[in-house]
Amino acid sequence: MSGSVEISVLDAPVPDAALEQLASVLVDCVEGGASVSFMAPFSQADGRTYFRKVADAVASGDAVLLAAKLDGRIVGTVQLGLDTPPNQPHRADLKKMLVHRSARGRGIGAALMAQIEVEAIRRGRWLLVLDTVPGENGYRLYKRAGWTESGIIPNYALFPDGRLCDTAVFWKRLDK
Ligand SMILES: CC(C)(COP(=O)(O)OP(=O)(O)OC[C@H]1O[C@@H](n2cnc3c(N)ncnc32)[C@H](O)[C@@H]1OP(=O)(O)O)[C@@H](O)C(=O)NCCC(=O)NCCS
Repeated sequence: MSGSVEISVLDAPVPDAALEQLASVLVDCVEGGASVSFMAPFSQADGRTYFRKVADAVASGDAVLLAAKLDGRIVGTVQLGLDTPPNQPHRADLKKMLVHRSARGRGIGAALMAQIEVEAIRRGRWLLVLDTVPGENGYRLYKRAGWTESGIIPNYALFPDGRLCDTAVFWKRLDK
């Protein structure tokens, strides 16, 4: 695959064309067996419904949404959840790091991670938290990106096919 990768913040209102492409990425990840909140079968309409809610969170200032474009098409995304309680103004949740299977293994996940950290610092959020399935692709990405693993919660969620999976809780403190 050739072409250049461009990472950008999707501001409100997120265009319908972008929502459609984001939904396609999510559908591909669920079809690929990733444990990312959803069960199989997961349709394009399901993906659209999910990303419309994310777009609402972007509009209300509760989320930052990034897109990774390859040759002008969205192939990857990640979110920063800013909707923390009043006593956690410095913290944010990293959510839904997703790269289409056709675009993996070329550093797009790492590039999304680097940019979301910049966006977190811009918003005064210097402590990030996430959870992910131990041993999966995301787990290795977070380790490489300098996140610290706090521990594992057994049987936390399900894979799309219904099997139980554990989750590993990670945190990262960013330079202020
Ligand atoms: C996790 C995920 C986002 C990673 O995306 P990605 O774009 O493939 O990530 P990267 O390309 O940065 O890294 C992936 C691999 O490619 C390697 N890589 C990165 N750049 C490379 C390059 N230019 N050439 C060759 N290999 C490269 C990395 O070392 C890494 O290797 P590893 O998996 O053996 O450890 C993707 O696998 C995904 O969407 N998975 C399903 C959804 C999911 O589980 N998300 C996490 C939820 S918490």
